[in-house]
Amino acid sequence: MEVVPLGTPEEVGAVAADVIEALVRRDPEAVLGLATGSSPLPTYRELIGRREAETAPSYDEVRCFTLDEYVGLPVGHPETYRETIFRELTDGLGIDRARVSSPDAMDPEHAGPRYEDAIAAAGGVDLQVLGIGADGHLAFNEPGSSLASLTRMKTLTDQTRRDNARFFGSVDEVPHHVLTQGLGTILRARHLLLVATGAGKAAAIAAAVEGPLSASCPASVLQMHPHATVLVDEEAGAGL
Ligand code: GLP
Repeated sequence: MEVVPLGTPEEVGAVAADVIEALVRRDPEAVLGLATGSSPLPTYRELIGRREAETAPSYDEVRCFTLDEYVGLPVGHPETYRETIFRELTDGLGIDRARVSSPDAMDPEHAGPRYEDAIAAAGGVDLQVLGIGADGHLAFNEPGSSLASLTRMKTLTDQTRRDNARFFGSVDEVPHHVLTQGLGTILRARHLLLVATGAGKAAAIAAAVEGPLSASCPASVLQMHPHATVLVDEEAGAGL
């Protein structure tokens, strides 16, 4: 695992944007795995800000897969992760919405295997952008998730619902269920790029990078991956 200590969230965003641009320049049909949450926002803003630059690659042929999705929100709800990723990245890069896939929250029972098939049909994910939860969760794989898990429905912990209440009017509006890529799904991506910023992530980063490989810290699965890059700002890297 390659750990890159950086200063600020903006520096993390700039380096992550360099990695993504380099991939798309090399392979204009790259398959990107996209995370939501606040951690990747500086990265996404940076990519959109560079879009008009001469060195910017074309994103026309890129395919995208989101990591997870809430179950129980109506189609088009602004807090669905599908709408969120359109708003925060793909619309800004001019990527056709039809090229952006997310687990089908309208059919949660069958969505998992279908999502796995869709990712495989696209040739697998080339680069997976990841954030990390304060408890070490990846996507919505909370502590205790099987390291081999695939896309499936999960129940959110109270802590994660409280953490995500900031995007909703109140915690009561945060769905209880989600569809999430599994840790096994995430590990199939050819390159994992985890971005973490802020003091609230320091303990999770220390556990993921230097702790034992364990389901109690789902992000420790990065230790098993042959090509994982972890970008941290000063605060998130403070425990290393
Ligand atoms: C959510 C998302 C994760 C994200 C994590 C951290 O639960 N499902 O994909 O990485 O929270 O979020 P943030 O980056 O806002 O701290």
